[in-house]
Amino acid sequence: MSAAAPAPKENMGNPVPRTDARAKVTGEARYPADVGVTKPAYAYLVTSAIAQGELSHIDSAAARVIPGVLEILTHENIGAIADAGFFAQGGAMSTTLLPLRSRHIAHDGEIIAVVLAETFELAREAAYRIKVSYQPGAASATFGSAGAQTIPVAQVSHQHEDPKVGDAHRALAGAPVKIDVEYSTPPQHHNAMELFSTTCVWSGDELTIYEPSQFVYGVKNGVAKQLGIDAGKVHVVSHFVGGAFGSKGSLTPRTALIAIAARKLNRPVKLVATRTQGFTIATYRAETRHRLQLGAQRDGKLLAYTHTGFEVTSRPDNYFVGGTEDTCRMYNFGSVATQVNIVHADRNTPGFMRSPPHVPYMFALESALDELAVALQMDPVELRRRNDTLKDPVSGKPYSSRSLAQCYEQAAQAFGWSQRSAAPGSMTEGDWLIGWGCATAVYPTHIGAAAARVRLSHDGQASVQVAAHDIGTGAYTVIGQMAAERLGIQPEAVKVELGDTKFPPAPVAGGSNTTATVCSTVMTACNAIRDKLFKAATAQQGPLAGRDVRQLDMRDGKVVAPEGASAKLAALFHRLETSALEEYTEWIPEGAPPDAVKTLYSGKPTLVGGAQGKKLLYAFGAEFVEVRIHRRTREIRVPRATGAFAAGRIMNTRTAHSQLMGGMIWGIGSALHEATELDRRAARYVNTNLADYLVPVNADIGEINVLLVPEVDNEVNPAGVKGLGELGNVGTAAAVANAVYHATGKRIRDLPIRIEQLL
Ligand code: MOS
Repeated sequence: MSAAAPAPKENMGNPVPRTDARAKVTGEARYPADVGVTKPAYAYLVTSAIAQGELSHIDSAAARVIPGVLEILTHENIGAIADAGFFAQGGAMSTTLLPLRSRHIAHDGEIIAVVLAETFELAREAAYRIKVSYQPGAASATFGSAGAQTIPVAQVSHQHEDPKVGDAHRALAGAPVKIDVEYSTPPQHHNAMELFSTTCVWSGDELTIYEPSQFVYGVKNGVAKQLGIDAGKVHVVSHFVGGAFGSKGSLTPRTALIAIAARKLNRPVKLVATRTQGFTIATYRAETRHRLQLGAQRDGKLLAYTHTGFEVTSRPDNYFVGGTEDTCRMYNFGSVATQVNIVHADRNTPGFMRSPPHVPYMFALESALDELAVALQMDPVELRRRNDTLKDPVSGKPYSSRSLAQCYEQAAQAFGWSQRSAAPGSMTEGDWLIGWGCATAVYPTHIGAAAARVRLSHDGQASVQVAAHDIGTGAYTVIGQMAAERLGIQPEAVKVELGDTKFPPAPVAGGSNTTATVCSTVMTACNAIRDKLFKAATAQQGPLAGRDVRQLDMRDGKVVAPEGASAKLAALFHRLETSALEEYTEWIPEGAPPDAVKTLYSGKPTLVGGAQGKKLLYAFGAEFVEVRIHRRTREIRVPRATGAFAAGRIMNTRTAHSQLMGGMIWGIGSALHEATELDRRAARYVNTNLADYLVPVNADIGEINVLLVPEVDNEVNPAGVKGLGELGNVGTAAAVANAVYHATGKRIRDLPIRIEQLL
């Protein structure tokens, strides 16, 4: 055991090393762009240099004469592509802004041509030789730009109602202590290590797509719809994903373009888009603005919370994250009034990015609570403790479990919070101002309908097949652990196969649902196999004859009774006259419609959880951060951070630790480094590469201490698991900003926090 592989506490599984670790570090793992296809043509995208207007002319003469250039697809010759609907409204697509449909340009960096050639270099050379002329129009870049249009989400979407309780404005008016503050967060792009790639291969009328994806059934059904072919003819393969964070969750326009290209050329086509193109051909986290008011009694008891959010989206799409749906349930607020607005601008459509609603909205709320604590002259941990609640202040429904108080207790203790001196600037070491801050992390527990196939052989080897996705999180490993545990065999004896539409479907690997959903499904399938073996073990003569099946378990390749009597698997299979038992199981969580697996097969996932059901299902955490700010240069360092998290059953303490640590690191980056810079005149991203788009590197990160807080919750789902992939990076940015205030007395309300704001 080590810091990276903590010893399991109650209700936690072993830190089994990732089963795909060796393949990944040795380069054996075939990511979708690595899959060998016969004699591929290579695609290179040409993207728009304006954000609004019309294409007047595409002059490709100089490109076409290059030997080895095979074809150049534009809106003039690509042919029909049908609409597959907007993901946020039950469709497949990340955006309704479909490129190559007309002369119209809707955002900077929109795909305007696809060059196909014998090699990548030739395709790129040809793309550079294409001359495009435009008739540009005026483009609205963001908040405050001329032509940007603000609309309350509730007016345009049935998926959002602004949470409201009591009369918050009146409560505020009478509150003895109150604050009224504004915050903002910047656009961010996922920048996974793996670029966006698509490889399409036709065999007759059957299409195989190799593409890194968080939802292979979505790609399958969406592309089939776009091409007007039977979904049964489309096969999608995505065995490994080199980072996604939401960016590979919905179908982006490039995929159908490459499928059409491969059909036209009658040979495989491979596209690997550039890092820069990734900023505009996929999604991102949009910039947000917030106005918050908090009112409290002098003893810290909250009386009112108002939160008005503004989020940028594209011109046509009503994409929003609406974080008030969760922030309104965080504390016993007394009264709540919220409103979420979207601001339409001439941008590509945003989309999911790790903890989409919580990163911006919890930054605002957790910063505001810190400001309130200062106004109250109260310790910020104590303020949260006094307003903790085990039931939803909005609906009155109870939480299935909520261990926020325990998280604060354990994290504060490990961090040494009791040593904090409250006055800003009062803790120093040499030239360094020291600041300590904290904030709450939260993530709703999502679960979805899924199906899986599990097979156990007489020799104790098992296999699990499900079209779930391991986006680097450890899904292969923990799914194998669940099967091994239920079937009483070693994890190495389980072969897990994921990321392929030839397997039964799982939901989009989004909303941190995969472990809870797939482990519950696999557990159900394993239970069916156990039932058969238990019946065989108890039915006839033998060591377990006549036993109550409810007392039996599987361990060490045997069916065992409580006091030790056992029957070997081989003997039971012999008795059953079969060499293997296979179960295909469909699992539908409570609250999901009875046809949820059927609709999943057609590419529509159903996720339930969070605040939707009879009880609130949420995971929580508490994060503490130390910052050091140089007295003269204002350089900002984060030497240490401690987070304590409770998320039900922890399947594997190593992979859980890794997810939570990675999340906290991202949170630090979100606080201090990360932002996509916009040229407001051109509505264009300018730092579209990893040199200028800052993410934390090793030198930016000090000690990250992750504590796993035991929590047993048998109500969330059969596996007892709450997803934690998106938990760790919630709250971190606020904890850093709160620590910066504590170090300097300066409250920075706009992320990322930079040296110049502290001068
Ligand atoms: Mo996650 S942003 O729900 O893929």
